Amino acid sequence: MTYTLITGASSGIGLELARIAVRERNNVVLVARDGKKLKEVQKELLAQSKHKKLSVEILEIDLSKSGASKKVFEFCENKKLFISTLINNAGFGDYGVFAESDLKTQVSMIHLNVQTVTELTHLFLPAMLKQKNGKILNLGSVASFLPGPLMSVYFATKNYVLSFSRALSEELRGTGVTVTCLCPGSTNTGFGKAAHVSDTHSTAHPKTTAKEVAEFGWYSLQAGDSVAIYGRSNRLMIQMIKFVPRNMLTRLVKRIQK
Ligand SMILES: NC(=O)c1ccc[n+]([C@@H]2O[C@H](COP(=O)([O-])OP(=O)(O)OC[C@H]3O[C@@H](n4cnc5c(N)ncnc54)[C@H](OP(=O)(O)O)[C@@H]3O)[C@@H](O)[C@H]2O)c1
Repeated sequence: MTYTLITGASSGIGLELARIAVRERNNVVLVARDGKKLKEVQKELLAQSKHKKLSVEILEIDLSKSGASKKVFEFCENKKLFISTLINNAGFGDYGVFAESDLKTQVSMIHLNVQTVTELTHLFLPAMLKQKNGKILNLGSVASFLPGPLMSVYFATKNYVLSFSRALSEELRGTGVTVTCLCPGSTNTGFGKAAHVSDTHSTAHPKTTAKEVAEFGWYSLQAGDSVAIYGRSNRLMIQMIKFVPRNMLTRLVKRIQK
């Protein structure tokens, strides 16, 4: 049976993508650390899919740990779940001055946001290519287009996701497998709290909902778009920054981040 695998499906954008996948009659494999939340989501989605006889598998695992991607792959292999859609959504940020930051947190972030995305894509891609059928959605960000003082490592990880996705999308042209990089701006999820963004920060209470971003991401994934930037103002901003000198742009981002 074919499945859609979603990392970070216990909350935020990943949870909304899981709801949409089941609504669109996809079997799903949901991955995150919080097993209790995953069980609640599984219960909700099974109730939602009662008449559609869909399968909802869950896997509780910390994807920032070495060997985790392989365990996810083996879980699917052992259960004979063919992953036809891979959604690399799990990720986190960390707000603050780099020199004063916790190095372990930064390295964990690079592992989750960069290494796990790369590993899972590498592990699940061969079977998709064999079937000449597959879709991959990677969570980038508006941050993918900018250097990000006060969140320097996070912005750099998202820059990697965009560059990797774009290149892979081109490599895979004509194979039946597409790669889409979804780039939302500030979205109302647990992201801000996990990134230690203070409650009084200008970006702490964004109006965009996870559902809006997920619907747009799912639509772009089905269309096979290579890059999908959510929101007209974000798209406009990304066009305009091409004309702003790099140093000025970096200072501007720092001011906004402050
Ligand atoms: N919200 C925004 O403003 C925004 C903007 C642009 C891009 N994004 C990107 O969107 C993606 C989803 O974030 P979100 O906004 O939906 O935030 P969120 O609500 O905090 O969700 C993050 C998800 O990732 C999972 N996760 C975190 N660390 C993990 C780990 N070590 N192993 C496995 N799963 C892990 C979390 O589940 P557990 O805690 O249960 O593990 C949760 O399900 C991220 O890649 C983020 O960078 C977010």
